[in-house]
Amino acid sequence: MQVDNTQPCVMVIFGGTGDLTHTKLMPALYRLKMDALLPKMFHVIAVGRRDLTNDDYVQGIYNSVQESNELPIDEVTWSEFSKCIYYHRQTFDDDSGYAVLKEKLAALSSDCNVLYYLAVSPEYFETIVGKLGAHDMARKKGAWRRVVIEKPFGRNLKTAQYLNKRICDAFDEESVYRVDHYLGKSMLQNLLVIRFANIAFEAVWNKESIDHVQISACETVGVGTRGGYYERFGALRDMVQNHLVQMLMLIAVEPPKSFDEKHIRERKLAVLKHLIADNKKAKSVRGQYGEGENDGQLMKAYRSESLVAEDSDTETFAAMKLFINNERWRGVPFYLRTGKRMPAKTTQVMIEFKKQAEIMPSSQFGDCGPNRLIIKIHPEEGVAFEFNAKKPGTNDDIVPVQMNFCQHCHFGFNSPQAYERLLHDAMHGDATLFPSWDEIKSSWAFADQLSARWQNDAPDFPNYDAGTWGPQAAQELMSSDEREWWNKQ
Ligand code: BG6
Repeated sequence: MQVDNTQPCVMVIFGGTGDLTHTKLMPALYRLKMDALLPKMFHVIAVGRRDLTNDDYVQGIYNSVQESNELPIDEVTWSEFSKCIYYHRQTFDDDSGYAVLKEKLAALSSDCNVLYYLAVSPEYFETIVGKLGAHDMARKKGAWRRVVIEKPFGRNLKTAQYLNKRICDAFDEESVYRVDHYLGKSMLQNLLVIRFANIAFEAVWNKESIDHVQISACETVGVGTRGGYYERFGALRDMVQNHLVQMLMLIAVEPPKSFDEKHIRERKLAVLKHLIADNKKAKSVRGQYGEGENDGQLMKAYRSESLVAEDSDTETFAAMKLFINNERWRGVPFYLRTGKRMPAKTTQVMIEFKKQAEIMPSSQFGDCGPNRLIIKIHPEEGVAFEFNAKKPGTNDDIVPVQMNFCQHCHFGFNSPQAYERLLHDAMHGDATLFPSWDEIKSSWAFADQLSARWQNDAPDFPNYDAGTWGPQAAQELMSSDEREWWNKQ
């Protein structure tokens, strides 16, 4: 994409001393600087509550950038970049702090564009946008003001609506960028390309040819230090409502009229509308990890993690079978699965095609397996296609074989990290990779329906051991053929 780097921009990060800023945002800005993708006139003001000098702050950022970088820091680039960083100390509800911040912005450039990034705990979202509005810092004639909000965007439909209202009291809707970092992942952006740029896939992307779809985001980690947050959210709100639903929408969209923000968002939303309408057919299972072992390492149960209640009924695993009630997908199961403390970290989409009608007699060739298209999102990035071929030799046996495209191997490790892409797009006013408010609203409505259904049956937690693929009941969502891949990853 051709972008205009001549527009000046100041980025103001609320939560400047936090983990997200150190591990993702600043390293991403540094890499954008390396690739000459930052605006020519660029400054970043990091707002934090700690008592730090500018030099201390910049040194801390240097260390974090170094840690997150595979290569040593380029000192020339760093020297230029570090001169753009300012630390500004204030609490988030302090009016005098906003007044000083406003003066600092004006001193940097009177007609400057400003990107506010809320890298703070969600309870501060409302306060910060409210203060920016009250201090007349959220809109400006002749320049833009945008705000980037991290997830979680609410905890359910009601709280999301409330938050959205508060944000839109201060900012215009088109200036609000709600982050789902999965959309910044390079292979997620590839989902549309793999399908729409290849007739071999697009022509068979429908219920006539596709048997079912499996979307998984499994993690080996537990909740670590985030027990307090996780207790309020659980797997459904933490992963399904946003990341998994986004993947589902991208797989299932109708061809957009054009590949721009408006049309892609429209098509994604249409998928969700049909998913919710047909929700009665959906089946779901939830789980919570107990003690277990992975790679010889003993792992404690979720209920023994810090800040987690001893009798917690928060789910750390969710799996579901969903249908999309439209012409293209009617009757095709979509399986979604996510969990913590699984045996492997793997985020992927697997599309299984229907078995070929028997043209080649099984009595002569043996059984043909299905074709599978596997889109690997993380940690491996790439695409594999499984198909049938003749086994070399004197008999006619057919065996499954795989063609593999490894994105890392092909393009090296330079594929931009999710936050580089997202920051870059927000600075350039392209919201295609940010979920629209309508998408968020509909996906909360979907999550709320599921959550309400879960209120009526309390599973006996913990119901899976850490280091396993989740509760037995998740297996029963599927037929034995469908389970073959599910258990293979
Ligand atoms: C975050 C969730 O949104 O995504 C975390 O809050 C989860 O609980 C993380 O660990 C997973 O992201 P990734 O990019 O590692 O798959």
